[in-house]
Amino acid sequence: MFKLDNKQALITGAGSGIGAAIAHAFAEAGATVWVTDRDEIGGNKTVEEIRKKGHQAHFLLLDVTDEATCIQSLNSVREEGPINILVNNAGIGHVGDLETTTGDNMDRLYQVNVKGVFNMMKAAIPFMLEQKTGNIVNMASIGGIVGVKNRLAYCMTKFAVVGLTKSTALDYAKRGIRVNCICPGRVETPFVKARLAEYDDPEKGYREMSSTQPIGRMAQPAEIAAAALYLASDEAGSVTGSCLSVDGGWSAG
Ligand SMILES: NC(=O)c1ccc[n+]([C@@H]2O[C@H](COP(=O)([O-])OP(=O)(O)OC[C@H]3O[C@@H](n4cnc5c(N)ncnc54)[C@H](O)[C@@H]3O)[C@@H](O)[C@H]2O)c1
Repeated sequence: MFKLDNKQALITGAGSGIGAAIAHAFAEAGATVWVTDRDEIGGNKTVEEIRKKGHQAHFLLLDVTDEATCIQSLNSVREEGPINILVNNAGIGHVGDLETTTGDNMDRLYQVNVKGVFNMMKAAIPFMLEQKTGNIVNMASIGGIVGVKNRLAYCMTKFAVVGLTKSTALDYAKRGIRVNCICPGRVETPFVKARLAEYDDPEKGYREMSSTQPIGRMAQPAEIAAAALYLASDEAGSVTGSCLSVDGGWSAG
């Protein structure tokens, strides 16, 4: 089950954290993975690690806010074969309430977390329609299901990712294209470590961040990658428009 043999997958933000874990999981499942990131060093590191394990991976430098490069990157994949799977994982965070969040913060978060996903989906959809098949997995968040204190800009963008996912899933359901999203709670990645650095007492911050999950701990990136692998696999053929929560129970209460 959950094999991706002979499939090509492009993953954004795969130079770190959850994206890197997804690239590893997909490559191990048999896919040729296109690791993309605006961070060339991180992206190449992921590719090297995957190749060392004997799997197929390529790197493309890609900032998801740059529409032309989004199109170019998908053209590169299409030249080698079908674009079977697109994972829109790249994202950035922000801590702040209405008093501390600026308009610029709002614009930046929107550009990366929402417009970036839109750019990639818009660039991929003509190919997927032509192929009559395609599979899109977007990385939303617990912050796309419930409000989170001090994260208004971030939550705004992740609620938008959920909306984009559900609407496009309906638009393309009859044309062979599935669109789903994953809503992780806190996951131990460099993203979370950056948020911890903003706390006066990072150890207290770590305990606080762990305690928001009823299971009492943060998830590991591989646990989110497992959810992505399921959604990307043929076994999830009847799953579209869904938000798969991987949040240790956070959204349950
Ligand atoms: N870590 C968590 O607790 C958590 C929880 C819920 C959702 N998420 C979401 O998961 C995704 C990945 O998070 P992570 O924790 O692995 O973060 P991370 O910071 O470890 O990795 C994010 C990657 O995205 C890349 N990136 C950022 N902006 C980009 C852009 N404009 N174009 C291309 N690449 C860009 C970064 O260079 C980095 O390699 C994000 O969308 C995040 O919102 C994370």
